[in-house]
Amino acid sequence: MQKLLVTGASGFLGWYITEAATTWQVIGTYWHHRNIAQSPYSVPVDLTNQQAVQQLFQDQKPDAVVHAAALSQPNACQQHPNLSYKINVLAAWQIAEECARLDIPCVFTSSEQVFDGTQAPYREIDPVSPINLYGEHKALAETGMLARHRKVIVCRMPLMFGAAPTASSFIQPFIQRLRTGEQLQAFTDEIRMPLSGWDAAQGLLLTLEQKYQGILHLGGPASLSRFAMAKILVEVLGIDQANITPCKQADVQMAAPRPQNLAMDNTIALKLGFKPQDFRSALLTIRDRL
Ligand SMILES: NC(=O)c1ccc[n+]([C@@H]2O[C@H](COP(=O)([O-])OP(=O)(O)OC[C@H]3O[C@@H](n4cnc5c(N)ncnc54)[C@H](OP(=O)(O)O)[C@@H]3O)[C@@H](O)[C@H]2O)c1
Repeated sequence: MQKLLVTGASGFLGWYITEAATTWQVIGTYWHHRNIAQSPYSVPVDLTNQQAVQQLFQDQKPDAVVHAAALSQPNACQQHPNLSYKINVLAAWQIAEECARLDIPCVFTSSEQVFDGTQAPYREIDPVSPINLYGEHKALAETGMLARHRKVIVCRMPLMFGAAPTASSFIQPFIQRLRTGEQLQAFTDEIRMPLSGWDAAQGLLLTLEQKYQGILHLGGPASLSRFAMAKILVEVLGIDQANITPCKQADVQMAAPRPQNLAMDNTIALKLGFKPQDFRSALLTIRDRL
């Protein structure tokens, strides 16, 4: 079996990738969360440490890489710009360089937040226009990685959800509030294309199978507002006492500015064989674990 190195295997998406990559021998990296440490194929690495990254590639000699480690919360990036730059930009560039040295494919999990949210749906060829530091750093990582290695696959991921045992997605805090009857304020003017963690992992692995190169949009099948997502969650989970209040982005103060409509055109991914489930259907398949 060929060896797949998954960075950020202890994170939400990393867990799905390691579960889905059944045709690979998977080596996963983690840093602060040792929840995958029981696996003999997991290694602790601080990816902001250049020597440690070099050592990782020398020791593991992977046949392919999925780089999913990141400071993934836009507000945290805005509040910790240096850390965001180190992990979201510099580490990504170094990983592309290591992959170039080995001449192996490198899948990078970028984000729809490289766009400003005013010109949706976005295609792969559209110019980036980030409005927060997370998006800016993802955009820098993309260009730097693509310039360093021709076998880089930049996958722009949408808002993801699921029931990974390792880390939570945006639906867990929603569900917690909905089940306890606490007020949940949900934006009516923030539009995203939610994608299940399982489908996201399948899409990422598909790009390796298909030897794709360049930028690819892996959006979910439909655009939904956060408010619409909350209503579907209530319906699928059969929650009686839910207290959802519609609101606008402008009503809530946050560290990072938020793009409004981040719908992506995923025509190329669909042609490649990407088959994402819609939000309701995907929730139904994981309902018992929520
Ligand atoms: N979740 C979404 O909705 C979404 C949407 C668009 C794009 N993305 C992108 O998709 C990727 C995965 O996101 P996610 O939601 O799975 O993120 P996550 O749950 O926050 O996991 C982040 C992962 O990165 C690792 N990490 C962070 N700093 C590190 C460091 N200095 N050295 C080594 N590892 C480090 C973490 O390791 P430890 O926890 O062990 O420290 C963890 O495994 C990210 O690139 C993110 O930007 C996510």
